Amino acid sequence: MNAEELVAVTAQHVERLFAGEGSGHDWWHIKRVWQNALKIGAQEKADLTVVQLGALLHDIADWKFHGGDEEAGPRAAATWLREQEAPETLISDVCQIIREVSFKGAGVDTTPSTLEVQVVQDADRLDAIGAIGIGRAFAYGGFKGREMYHPHQEPLLHASFEEYKKNQGPTLNHFYEKLFLLKERLNTTAGRQLAQERHSYMQEFVRQFLLEWHGEEPAPA
Ligand code: ADP
Ligand code: NI
Repeated sequence: MNAEELVAVTAQHVERLFAGEGSGHDWWHIKRVWQNALKIGAQEKADLTVVQLGALLHDIADWKFHGGDEEAGPRAAATWLREQEAPETLISDVCQIIREVSFKGAGVDTTPSTLEVQVVQDADRLDAIGAIGIGRAFAYGGFKGREMYHPHQEPLLHASFEEYKKNQGPTLNHFYEKLFLLKERLNTTAGRQLAQERHSYMQEFVRQFLLEWHGEEPAPA
């Protein structure tokens, strides 16, 4: 199987696994990450086979849904790629992406070790901000049974990975705990450019949300 075919069968496999998922990790999320990663990866002159397979498989067994097991994803990806007889070096590059892609709390350094991880991490993080990011945050919060907002519950601003994993806080806190931090943590020039608009849009959303919540909207003229 050549690289193009491997990408195509992997896309089909992942689409079948994730279709209709409701926690914000659905096929459309993966497809957006795949397409953005391809765009950023081309600009950065990254290895596009590694980038595409990493993007397609990055959420295959997310630790958040597998009892915190961080090796579940790389294991599932490696099993799939081995079944397709992919070369071991490719498998190891793809697993590297899955291991390093995730945000793990405000206090945890998640600097990527390769260009290909940088690209996929940026594409994944772009999908966590902006209008889609807002939608996904509330979808995830609802899925986990969280409150939208609680006026007396403070966000965890310097969370370790353990604290981040255990956090049950309201969804609005997630903006301070992760989403507003992502813009400064993007790796590539293209990623940083795309993040600007999405970041301001999210800031405006939270500002308006809090005005409405606290009954402080400006009086009609
Ligand atoms: P990524 O896809 O960047 O790895 P995650 O898997 O951490 O992101 O999260 C997937 C989506 O769910 C993102 O849009 C993220 O912001 C959202 N999410 C994760 N944790 C929370 C949370 N505690 N509250 C609200 N949304 C969350
Ligand atoms: Ni993702």
